[in-house]
Amino acid sequence: MATTTSMSSMYASLLYLCLLFCLEKGAYAFEGRKIAESNNLHTIQVSDLLPSTACKHSTKVAENKAAFKVVHRHGPCAQLIQDNANAPNLENILVEDQSRVDSIHSKFSRTSGDSSYVKQTDATRLPANRGVSLGTGNYIVTVGLGTPTKDLPLIFDTGSDLTWVRCMPGVDAFDPTRSSSYHNISCKSEICSYVTSATGNRPGCASTTCEYGVRYGDGSFTYGFVGNERLSIGSADVFDNITFGCSQRSEGLFGKVGGLMGLGRAKLSIISQTDSKYKKLFSYCLPVSGKAGFLSFGASQSKSAKFIPLSSNSDFYSLDLAGIVVGNRRLSIPASVFSKAGTIIDSGTVITRLQPKAYSALRSAFTEAMSKYPKAEPLSILDTCYDFSKYKTIEVPKIALSFNGGDVEIDQSGIFFANGISQVCLAFAGNTDARDIAIFGNMQQQNYEVVYDVNGGKIGFAPGACS
Ligand SMILES: *[C@@H]1O[C@H](CO)[C@@H](O)[C@H](O)[C@H]1NC(C)=O
Ligand SMILES: *[C@@H]1O[C@H](CO)[C@@H](O)[C@H](O)[C@H]1NC(C)=O
Repeated sequence: MATTTSMSSMYASLLYLCLLFCLEKGAYAFEGRKIAESNNLHTIQVSDLLPSTACKHSTKVAENKAAFKVVHRHGPCAQLIQDNANAPNLENILVEDQSRVDSIHSKFSRTSGDSSYVKQTDATRLPANRGVSLGTGNYIVTVGLGTPTKDLPLIFDTGSDLTWVRCMPGVDAFDPTRSSSYHNISCKSEICSYVTSATGNRPGCASTTCEYGVRYGDGSFTYGFVGNERLSIGSADVFDNITFGCSQRSEGLFGKVGGLMGLGRAKLSIISQTDSKYKKLFSYCLPVSGKAGFLSFGASQSKSAKFIPLSSNSDFYSLDLAGIVVGNRRLSIPASVFSKAGTIIDSGTVITRLQPKAYSALRSAFTEAMSKYPKAEPLSILDTCYDFSKYKTIEVPKIALSFNGGDVEIDQSGIFFANGISQVCLAFAGNTDARDIAIFGNMQQQNYEVVYDVNGGKIGFAPGACS
């Protein structure tokens, strides 16, 4: 009896093993095919292409205490400070994005030594193209300024240097007369002389107070006094005497946003002013609509960031783009196409801009891989659009930007810019002039922790970092 039992249980286990083996083998072969496919394709739910209308982020922001929560300015998570009346439509976002790109391009080609002085009465006539256009694809953080602390929602921008906040009368603005830690900066101080490199305009003087003015490429402007104030970074750190612009007047795309936090490379940027503590190390994760990301100082959140060298450039953060991969194909684009014009990474440009030849190679490879899907009308600067209204899921080739030092595969949320499911466009565009710099835009940085290690001369990318 015992033998029969053990025999039958042995057969049972053999059968079980065999079944398991056969199933496993079958499943393995199937998975193998799937894996091979998914290595160069994303399978995307068409419904996921549309922006979320609900704020669904988790409450966990970042491990680092010197961090801010980041939300999209016009997304559902910006409820508290949302200026819906000013929320732009998608075509306007693209038009304003182009004005930012134009101003970046002109900043690179501008001749030095022709900057003008600021005069308050003249602020509306400050020369344009000095600062960078704000664009509207901006991300915001809420920072604490002054004593007692006033919380202010600020756009953060790696393409700007001077931080400024609205100091004009009004409930949402900062009132320097109510803060015990505010000091005006004198026109004669050395700090005042740094205004030129931070804004592109030489400082003015109101009785004895240093004055700044910035006119952005899209016509927006801000001017006011230069002051020092106490700034809180997250829950961890407080900095005394951070130099910033106390705006007496601003006009343009700012809406209800309290101002701007400059994360550029010049002397007055927040990065330079907090160098002693953070060693010019900061990182951010730009979230998709409905999710939250972070802006963090002094340490990266992820241990797995892949680093590539940061090239030296005084105005922007530059990288050496060297190629593009679509699916499993490295496109044949001459290296000189990239090296002659150069590439920067920017938190404020929405759509990645490529040199004309690089973009047309990307477009051909992408169009070929997407040939089974019906095309749709172009949308402003985006010329490769599809109608996915008859599909539940689509298969899209993976896209990677190849830098000297490593490849960065674009998150699937960064491939398309959708104006409804019947007009979903490849979210890349070409520059018109081959000499203009390429820009790694914020849609393509989505969901990555982008680590700026400025003193270390490198920039890192860690995928899947937003919550
Ligand atoms: C800063 O200087 C301006 C211009 O002189 C002046 O109007 C303002 O009252 C000063 N603010 C403070 C807080 O001293
Ligand atoms: C901040 O700067 C003001 C003058 O601009 C100075 O009087 C004050 O002592 C400084 N505070 C700190 C904490 O360094």
